[in-house]
Amino acid sequence: MKKVIGFNGSPRKSFNTKSLVKTILEGAEKKGAETKLYDLAKMNIGGCIGCVACRRGPDCSIKDDMSDLLEEIKSADAVVFGSPVYMLQMTSQAKAFIDRLFPIIKNDFTSVLKTGTKALFVYTQGTVDTEAFRSYFNHNENMLQHFGFTVEKSFAVGNTRDKGDFEKQEDKVKEAMELGSNLAI
Ligand SMILES: Cc1cc2nc3c(=O)[nH]c(=O)nc-3n(C[C@H](O)[C@H](O)[C@H](O)COP(=O)(O)O)c2cc1C
Repeated sequence: MKKVIGFNGSPRKSFNTKSLVKTILEGAEKKGAETKLYDLAKMNIGGCIGCVACRRGPDCSIKDDMSDLLEEIKSADAVVFGSPVYMLQMTSQAKAFIDRLFPIIKNDFTSVLKTGTKALFVYTQGTVDTEAFRSYFNHNENMLQHFGFTVEKSFAVGNTRDKGDFEKQEDKVKEAMELGSNLAI
């Protein structure tokens, strides 16, 4: 059975980004995957302090919720990273989490991930044009590839301001389900 995990980087815990990640995980479940969804804003994840302990050994020196999340990621077959676009970028909650992925890369630049671990970065944004931030999305795809993930093309949902705005876009909901199905194969 494939293990697909998702992260919601929105501080609004029941809004569009969570719903988007949840829908992707539902698509994976329909193909028989085991799934888990984490709300980053609910968790205790401090910013990287640059001690570089993870360059000298395998572990991060900060003992917070990230310790368990790193183990989850290492055992996953696919990981969904979800964030709203804030100021043309991911949220600060998502960025703190991303910085703390540093232990995934060993000192010799090899990755501790299982070969072929898939990653998908998904976004919600107020802007209707889902190509508006494509260069930033591409940048994040490169970053995940550097960590050793097999990266899928990013997916964005626009025009999401109020609760339920994602669910109103039936074509996007369908696409999200399909993305989830693909992560489970
Ligand atoms: C502080 C802040 C900054 C934002 N910056 C942008 C932005 O640069 N571009 C954009 O298209 N939408 C921006 N938005 C809109 C959010 O991306 C959008 O409403 C998103 O769906 C929120 O995610 P959520 O519903 O999961 O909380 C911003 C919203 C906030 C609160």
